[in-house]
Amino acid sequence: MSDILVHTEAGVTTISFNRLERKNSITSDMYASMADALVQAEADASVRVVVFQGHETVFCAGNDIGDFQKPPAQGEGERPVFRFLHGIASFSKPVIAAVCGPAVGIGTTMLFHCDLVYAGDNAAFSMPFVNLGLCPEAASSLLVPQMFGYHRAAEALLMGEPFFAEAALEVGLANRVVPPTEANAYAQAQARKLAAKPLSSLIQTKRLMKKGQMAQVHAHMDEEAISFGRMLSEPAAREAFGAFMEKRKPDFSKV
Ligand code: COA
Repeated sequence: MSDILVHTEAGVTTISFNRLERKNSITSDMYASMADALVQAEADASVRVVVFQGHETVFCAGNDIGDFQKPPAQGEGERPVFRFLHGIASFSKPVIAAVCGPAVGIGTTMLFHCDLVYAGDNAAFSMPFVNLGLCPEAASSLLVPQMFGYHRAAEALLMGEPFFAEAALEVGLANRVVPPTEANAYAQAQARKLAAKPLSSLIQTKRLMKKGQMAQVHAHMDEEAISFGRMLSEPAAREAFGAFMEKRKPDFSKV
């Protein structure tokens, strides 16, 4: 079975992470599938809402670390991850996420491009880019300070430690906290409510809320991607990835 499941019903396209044995970490092929699903959902006039969901125990463990260790097959700008990120950032219809368990790296940063986020009470959000010898992506270095305030953003992005569902609710990253067994169903119920509303009003309302900084978001993503791409092959990241694979603590004393 595919690592990304895409299902459309009653005006709602649901994109599900389905790689539980690797904690729903995302490979290049998975980014490509998600980017394609967004293009399809954008073009299909019968689709009004997109829902991202994982499993009740884990939303997404971020980028596949093994993939990080491989040299990119494409030029930086064409990599599927960037197709996905630019696609979700400019997606015109409402996007909902149901997040339970760990949401690491892009598992958290993609949420800044969703319109509604429902968190299981076991949700653990983290952006551990510094701990991996990397820097933020997905325009998170722009959007996290805006949403959290600078000092809380600095704590999340410099320390990279997890924060939990109630904190996400408090800073405005999550709309509601629900029992993990109910998160996906709750997101679907909200999606069905939105799908019953006029699509043109949904699209115009989202466009008007986002237009003020849409160009800046895309430009910021591109700027982050240049640093991120370079840092992937630098000693700190090599050490962090090696340590993860070897199940040991990284040693940054020499980098
Ligand atoms: N890439 C590749 N493999 C991953 C992965 C990732 N991002 N996250 C988890 N896995 C693998 C583990 O290596 C492990 O493989 P194994 O069974 O061969 O040992 C398996 O998935 C289960 O993960 P495990 O760490 O044992 O699960 P856990 O429940 O103890 O912890 C996480 C879950 C998500 C907290 C933890 O796996 C984690 O921190 N993952 C890395 C997250 C990360 O740094 N992502 C990159 C962000 S930019």
